Amino acid sequence: MVAGSAVEFGLNTFSFPTTTLFGAGALGELPDRCRRLGISRPLVVTDPGLVETEAFAALTKTLGQADQGRGWFVYSGVHPNPIEKDLREAAADFRERKCDGVIAIGGGSPLDVVKDARLLVKRPKLDFAKFYDESDWAGLAPFIAIPTTAGTGSEVGRSSVITLDSTRRKAVLFHPELMAELAILDPELTIGLPPKLTAATGADALTHCIESFTCPVFHPMCDGIALEGIRLIVEALPRAYRNGKDVEARGKMLVAAAMGAVAFQKDLGVVHSMAHPLSTICGMHHGLANALCLIAGMKFCAARKSGLYRRVGTACGLEVIKASDVEADRQTIRFISGLLAGLGLNTRLREHGVKADQLNALVAQGIDDPCHKTNAVPVTEEDFGKLYEEVL
Ligand SMILES: [Fe+2]
Repeated sequence: MVAGSAVEFGLNTFSFPTTTLFGAGALGELPDRCRRLGISRPLVVTDPGLVETEAFAALTKTLGQADQGRGWFVYSGVHPNPIEKDLREAAADFRERKCDGVIAIGGGSPLDVVKDARLLVKRPKLDFAKFYDESDWAGLAPFIAIPTTAGTGSEVGRSSVITLDSTRRKAVLFHPELMAELAILDPELTIGLPPKLTAATGADALTHCIESFTCPVFHPMCDGIALEGIRLIVEALPRAYRNGKDVEARGKMLVAAAMGAVAFQKDLGVVHSMAHPLSTICGMHHGLANALCLIAGMKFCAARKSGLYRRVGTACGLEVIKASDVEADRQTIRFISGLLAGLGLNTRLREHGVKADQLNALVAQGIDDPCHKTNAVPVTEEDFGKLYEEVL
């Protein structure tokens, strides 16, 4: 600790390495970017729904124009909440087709699958339950990430969330080598995203920004990015929800989602620990799960750390700088609650099929989830029980 300093800094790595190509029509750069990365036989990884979309048609058109007889291939079996089978099938396709790079297009799921499938290409017998026993992940196949939702920010993240066969739980696998070499953020690819998915994925991005900003880790760079992400989301998400063709709002949401993921290299909090079991046990969309738990999580944290959300409120455009701690939190939470309600995200878990007899299982997985270890305040098993009951 530095003499006279009031903060014990510890040793941190601040890292913002992903090259990001942003803009309407950015997809058109893909062939050139593939060449620059030495990719001539890419495997495109996506999910079955996306293959039917205009976004995929645009990719096909772009790669078709680029193809000079060398070919490109598609694996489209990714599940909405990815499972180990997805990784193994994608890796097998990669090897069989003799591919030399991967393009992931879609929401967070195909992007997460590609991160880990590249590990399997390098080490086919890898046991993901022993992921952290391994040390050498260098030299993975080059990877271009193209998000078609503005939520997970997986395109700039170094972690992936996969449900493992051995545990049947979502595991967060984290390693800097998992990152994409290039993220292409093209708002035109998100135009077709329906309002409900626009809202849910946007709520995920908002939760990333709020939880990472309030996570008690010293990382002022991430804090600044999280606050600007909140400002962008508050402005652009309602616009993108109301009018999907608003390219400017779509673009701001894409950048804000990437910012949320950059910010959460600080880590997340209790809302994500509540959301992960809702996906594994109840099959709920990750963004929706976050949205339904966010306000309860914020109230829980504010009650134990007064004034926690003052600067979140400022980023939302509220005049809470001079308000009391309690009032600043109250106004901020009320604002976020209103924002979610305006997006149709003010429903309860039971309206999405969650049953009271699932609460014990949810609590058990919630307390085991690592995200709440970096929550703004400690969370006990009993707290998880009360929080789930509150949102049921
Ligand atoms: Fe998330």
